[in-house]
Amino acid sequence: VTMTDGEGGLPVVRVSTAVASGEVYLHGAHVTSWQPAGAEPVIWLSAESEFRPGAPIRGGVPICFPWFGAGRTPSLAPAHGFARIAPWRLTGASDDDGTVTLTFALTHDDASGAPGADRWPFRFTAGYTVTFGAELTLALTVRNAGDEAFSFEEALHTYLAVADARTATVDGLDGARYLDKTSSGEPRQVLQSGPVTFTSETDRVYLQGAPTTLLDPGSRAITITPENGADTVVWNPWVAKAAAMADFGDDEWPAMVCVETANALGDAVTLGPGESHTLRVTYAVR
Ligand code: BG6
Repeated sequence: VTMTDGEGGLPVVRVSTAVASGEVYLHGAHVTSWQPAGAEPVIWLSAESEFRPGAPIRGGVPICFPWFGAGRTPSLAPAHGFARIAPWRLTGASDDDGTVTLTFALTHDDASGAPGADRWPFRFTAGYTVTFGAELTLALTVRNAGDEAFSFEEALHTYLAVADARTATVDGLDGARYLDKTSSGEPRQVLQSGPVTFTSETDRVYLQGAPTTLLDPGSRAITITPENGADTVVWNPWVAKAAAMADFGDDEWPAMVCVETANALGDAVTLGPGESHTLRVTYAVR
């Protein structure tokens, strides 16, 4: 485990063992890579990503907190909350036979300088545990450290590398209802039938937190096992939206699919003083 200056001079924790390699930027506690030994990289990162204070990293695993997207009305900025642009602290590192667990922390005080932090002025502590091994496990624990109840949304917004999004599918959501965020106005509610396929811009909040499998034909399957997430977000920007994003290469969209474990929209989490909540997800390659 080493801490060095990464892209843009931002501090990054790098892990490399016989079991797996990985890296996490303190900026956002942002996982930008995970590669189990013998496997291709699992996490996608844009070659056009910015790496600077105030801007989110494009790709990897943004932590969306304390709101998802623009939040609920009134709409909030920055998109996906301030945790992904706040300076987290590394609080621990341990190695169990090559499986490395890193822990990070962010409090209300740590985040106070981040854009948007004043929009959600509650006293909280967040702990983030990243385990790089044959599997990747991410766990975000939020605790109410104040004396009034608060509500928040959250997502572990994983960008997964695929050979071609146009032939990839997501299994496990058959029969689930989803909110289609590509329709204008209030998102429409739609019923999923069969596996999710990608044939145009796809931006959906599935109101189901069950295990899914991202099938990448001819390549591999990535299993995604969530815990305490009520929603699964599936996103691919496709041609026009990729072209419109300055930090996303115009031709990069076929190489990624986001499958996100979330509590968003109607599934915000409410914590009373002293209460805590853990959102966890495990990825494995088959
Ligand atoms: C997804 C949202 O989770 O994240 C999309 O559902 C959004 O609507 C995408 O476009 C990327 O968000 P951002 O803020 O990182 O560009």
